[in-house]
Amino acid sequence: MWDTIRSVVRFKPVETDPVARRLAKAANVHDLRRMAKRRLPGGVFDYIDGGAEDEVTLERNSLAFAELEWVPRVLRNVQAIDPATTLLGRRHPMPLVLAPTGFTRIADSQGELAVARAAERAGLTYSLSTMGTRSIEEVAEVSDGPKWFQVYVWKDRGLVAELLGRAKAAGFEAIIITVDLAVLGRRERDVRRGFELPPKIGPSTIIDGIVHPGWTWDFVRADPITFSSVVGQHDIDGSTAVSLADHAHQQFDQSLSWADIAWFRQQWDGPIVIKGVQSVADAEIAVEHGIEAVALSNHGGRQLDQAPVPLELLDPVLQAVGGETEVIVDGGIRRGSDIVKAMCLGASACMAGRAYLYGLGAAGERGVDHVLGLLRADMERAMALVGATTIDDLSPDLVRWRSG
Ligand SMILES: Cc1cc2nc3c(=O)[nH]c(=O)nc-3n(C[C@H](O)[C@H](O)[C@H](O)COP(=O)(O)O)c2cc1C
Repeated sequence: MWDTIRSVVRFKPVETDPVARRLAKAANVHDLRRMAKRRLPGGVFDYIDGGAEDEVTLERNSLAFAELEWVPRVLRNVQAIDPATTLLGRRHPMPLVLAPTGFTRIADSQGELAVARAAERAGLTYSLSTMGTRSIEEVAEVSDGPKWFQVYVWKDRGLVAELLGRAKAAGFEAIIITVDLAVLGRRERDVRRGFELPPKIGPSTIIDGIVHPGWTWDFVRADPITFSSVVGQHDIDGSTAVSLADHAHQQFDQSLSWADIAWFRQQWDGPIVIKGVQSVADAEIAVEHGIEAVALSNHGGRQLDQAPVPLELLDPVLQAVGGETEVIVDGGIRRGSDIVKAMCLGASACMAGRAYLYGLGAAGERGVDHVLGLLRADMERAMALVGATTIDDLSPDLVRWRSG
């Protein structure tokens, strides 16, 4: 009997580091989302997690990946898997760019710095938002990794030109012009909570703060949150509480049109990514303007509800402009296998936002490392199981839509 008991009992060493303990239980991004939900105040979690109106698009972005099933091939020698790819002339160890997210410090006080450092460790490109809560220079100081700068086009073009000059000087390699936010989508979770940025700890949020002591303690000890790249240059620089809708309405240039691309070309001599393309027609116009990459994106379901799902738009866009511009799929990526599916359909790369924000909210910078590690391991496993060793092996015949 003792021999049997001895053969089955295993005592693992006790893990004393609480973050390592937490991460050991995070088998996937959904687990990290649940952990972030527990650790962050409700309003903060909903700002990250939520989408526009009925959140139909938010849900469909992810569901589309489940609707695309594998047609795996076997006996193909998958001893050595390499998911590396080239995007805008740079080699990436996997086809993933960390999407720009405003107010990243809301999830963890290190915010953009933590994400940029984790991206550099993974060899991936990090995109910094205009609404970043760490400045262009602060991010460049902590990361020598590849970086893109995302631009919301403010009415004050002098300010935009200045930001582009600073991004160039700081070594950012490309700009992303986000074009799906002429006005802010109606994010009804934020409306219900009266959510403002930066979050204010008032009577309504005090209990939320008390029941999320880890986040609250981190938040109150850190410097105040502002839009760090524009602080002091504008009335609305994030130092006073403002609703996101008011901010977008007052600052962003609703008159922006394709004609303005020429202005960007004068200000910026590197690659331009247009993010928020949602139709074949606009992908074609982007190509006419010589745009180096389009990101098919509905802003993670945060802008126009019932907008097209990027994964489903990929094939028609490639039919129209494939080979003339790089095409990035953005929205709903929760697993490395999702990235593999987009690559099978011919994407140049994917972008992910919430996946890393959940990691950051659940466990800070190490949570982001954990997510990037999970996505990479998932990719390698999925590639091995469908019989592909390189990105070039990923072809449309490895997947099929369940609906036919
Ligand atoms: C909390 C949050 C903030 C975001 N802020 C920005 C932003 O400042 N600029 C931008 O171009 N996109 C922003 N996005 C959209 C992301 O860049 C990306 O399109 C989206 O997260 C992709 O969907 P996913 O979260 O399902 O990966 C934000 C998304 C989230 C979740």
